[in-house]
Amino acid sequence: MRLCIIGTGYVGLVTGTCFAEVGHQVVCVDNDIEKVRRLRAGEIPIYEPGLDVLVPRNVASGRLRFTDSVAEGVEESDVVFIAVPTPPQPDGSVDLSFIESVAREIAGCMTSYKIIVDKSTVPVKTGEKVSETIKRYNKSKVDFDVVSNPEFLREGFAVEDLMKPDRVVVGVLSQRPVTAMREVYAPFDAPFIVTDINSAELIKHAANSFLALKISYINAVAAVCEATGANVVEVANGMGLDKRIGRAFLNAGIGFGGSCFPKDLSAFIKIAEQLGVDFRLLKEVQAINAGQMDRFVKKIAETLWVLKDKRLGVLGLAFKQNTDDVRMSPAIELCQRLLREGASLRVHDPKAMDKARAILPPSERLEYVEHQDDVAEGCDALVVATEWPEFTRLNLEKARRALTHPILFDGRNLFDKAEMERLGFLYKSVGR
Ligand code: UGA
Repeated sequence: MRLCIIGTGYVGLVTGTCFAEVGHQVVCVDNDIEKVRRLRAGEIPIYEPGLDVLVPRNVASGRLRFTDSVAEGVEESDVVFIAVPTPPQPDGSVDLSFIESVAREIAGCMTSYKIIVDKSTVPVKTGEKVSETIKRYNKSKVDFDVVSNPEFLREGFAVEDLMKPDRVVVGVLSQRPVTAMREVYAPFDAPFIVTDINSAELIKHAANSFLALKISYINAVAAVCEATGANVVEVANGMGLDKRIGRAFLNAGIGFGGSCFPKDLSAFIKIAEQLGVDFRLLKEVQAINAGQMDRFVKKIAETLWVLKDKRLGVLGLAFKQNTDDVRMSPAIELCQRLLREGASLRVHDPKAMDKARAILPPSERLEYVEHQDDVAEGCDALVVATEWPEFTRLNLEKARRALTHPILFDGRNLFDKAEMERLGFLYKSVGR
């Protein structure tokens, strides 16, 4: 199939690359000329495992190319995917202006039948609006179909999630585009679900909100565990073996972040409110998530008493493992709160230090450390803020000797409690 992807962010770039990898002819469009230039030169603007191999391979085979021209991309393709940002607004609703302007641009340059697919995460009823907009600005009056095809990839595992999806959801206003969409996804061998367009949009918001709910649920259970001496990991294991529940997304910690869950929860609550539904359950999910950070900071403060002039080593800045993304990162929020309390920080992240530097204001109380084993040097305590697996390989003996007193606050439950205590650490984690 000849495919065009508009937007080369996480979703657009990974989707375009994986489509090329399975044999489609793909043109990726971005209005950021500098980004297009870098991509053409073989540079990958984001850290996402696997892309460094797949992008050059598919560019070399001639199946993947980059341009800044929407008209060129649309002209050369049968199916046009929209994968542009849908940023949050202060009231929790979503800014759909990028989607609207791309829809107008596509409409203005279509000269033959096209299928226009929305991949960006949008509130229910957006597809209907996109269809109306294209009809209005469709100069050549050619036929078209609008489809909603939500994306379920996780950052850090995006290539894997795209190549082996749990399901493909295709929401349509008529049956006409279904055959072509089946053809696009035939190489992926995944369950293919066709729904009406509003249901497809709701599947995305409902799925992300449910995953966030699972995390807040286990975090609330963690608070009860702390009050009773129970162990939340054992509780999660025991719950997770029930196939109806499942173990995934039952890891207690300092809460969820990133560019998806916080935004999608607010957007789902907002669109529900606009439709006359008060989604109180999801408001509680947000409140528990915010409270989780408060409880963790309190735990640190209660142990160290005064935070002013204390030096803390922080492991992790990204919002989760395997990514350099720091948007809405709980680890960054934790650093900001500790700095506000007057503490000095020595911070490290395997991939996200550059992006953290761009958002944390420079301060003489903030030092970036190149190697994880050097973070503890001269610190009063260590804090784990992101679930990077390499942190479990920390040289604990070296850390214990480097700290004034061996104290470790584990905001992601990465270490074994009994083992840490055997090594002589005062070890505080979440719900254990
Ligand atoms: C999430 C969804 O998992 C994807 O399916 C979806 O496609 C994506 O949003 C999106 O809407 O684009 P992502 O935000 O990349 O993916 O990351 P997750 O792996 O879901 O993690 C989100 C946050 O939850 C992280 O801060 C992570 O640390 C936290 N988390 C996750 C927990 O605190 N506990 C868990 O058990 C799992």
